[in-house]
Amino acid sequence: SIPVDNVQSLASKDPKDIPIRYIRPEIESEEILADESLQIPVIDFSKLTVAGQPCYDDELAKLHVACRDWGFFQLINHGESETIDAMKTVTKEFFKLPLEEKMKCAQLPNTIEGYGQAFVVSEEQKLDWGDMMFILPLPIALRNFRFWPQNPQSFRETFEEYSNKLHGVSMKLFKLMSINLGVEPETISKKFENCTQGIRMNYYPPCPEAGKVLGLAPHSDATGLTLLVQVNEVQGLQIRKNSKWVPIKPIHGSIIVNIGDVMEIMSNGEYRSIEHRAVVDFEKERLSIAAFHSPDLEAMIGPAPELVKEKTPKYKTIDSQDYVKLIINSKLDGKNLIDHMKI
Ligand code: SIN
Ligand code: FE2
Repeated sequence: SIPVDNVQSLASKDPKDIPIRYIRPEIESEEILADESLQIPVIDFSKLTVAGQPCYDDELAKLHVACRDWGFFQLINHGESETIDAMKTVTKEFFKLPLEEKMKCAQLPNTIEGYGQAFVVSEEQKLDWGDMMFILPLPIALRNFRFWPQNPQSFRETFEEYSNKLHGVSMKLFKLMSINLGVEPETISKKFENCTQGIRMNYYPPCPEAGKVLGLAPHSDATGLTLLVQVNEVQGLQIRKNSKWVPIKPIHGSIIVNIGDVMEIMSNGEYRSIEHRAVVDFEKERLSIAAFHSPDLEAMIGPAPELVKEKTPKYKTIDSQDYVKLIINSKLDGKNLIDHMKI
């Protein structure tokens, strides 16, 4: 990978001319669909805790539509507000630290973990207007504590709790999705019991050229399920719908959930992994935390046989190592990972 500038310090110098590698002229002509009525579904988790209780079936049906037609939804009443609020606090504190303090957890060459920037593979590649702190808390055996901040002091404890609780939420969602797809509740979740979890804390500084840069370039998530939390009130997430960009209006305290490529593949295309991006603000910093859940390292990635049955599989089945190679290769050739998996 090619080393790039720290964006937070670049932005703090108040650059009059943003380096050309951040400028994306094409985005100014892309259509933003800011239709108030067009918002991702809202799913009330408290209605999904006990089968048979009033509203359970309705909410389950809403979840199915959300996964199938949107690939994105907001989860409310999830019961993890305390943990999430604590995580937001330590995330804000971490990014406020002086650069040299944050650099104690800096990425190493050719690794994705640690404090730094998204993977850059060529000198021509456009750059994202943002820094990140990426850690792989699960599986526990593969934890690499050199990347876990010790400042703020409560970071590690808070982070571990966050990792556990969000893994728990995704396991419950996987079970509900299995029920919705008409298979045994454990069909999907069993592949995620020893899941690989990555947590990415994003810091997007304000930018005087906000209309011409992106905090995060358009992508779909290569993982199974992503749980995204907005740290402050600055919006920026947009999802692709009918070749336009729909800005998401986060509900305070909600978790934004999105279907990743693995889930699209496992569901044999029934659920969709949607392209999304992050824009930045002219005056305000924006922070978000994304928790990615990928299957166990031994799991095969492909349509779940129980879900295909008499239908034809639409995607290949490969092992996790080959899937990781595919993630890297598709970044290199600029093609969507899912295109490589389609039969
Ligand atoms: C992401 O796609 O991982 C994060 C987007 C955001 O910052 O909202
Ligand atoms: Fe994403």
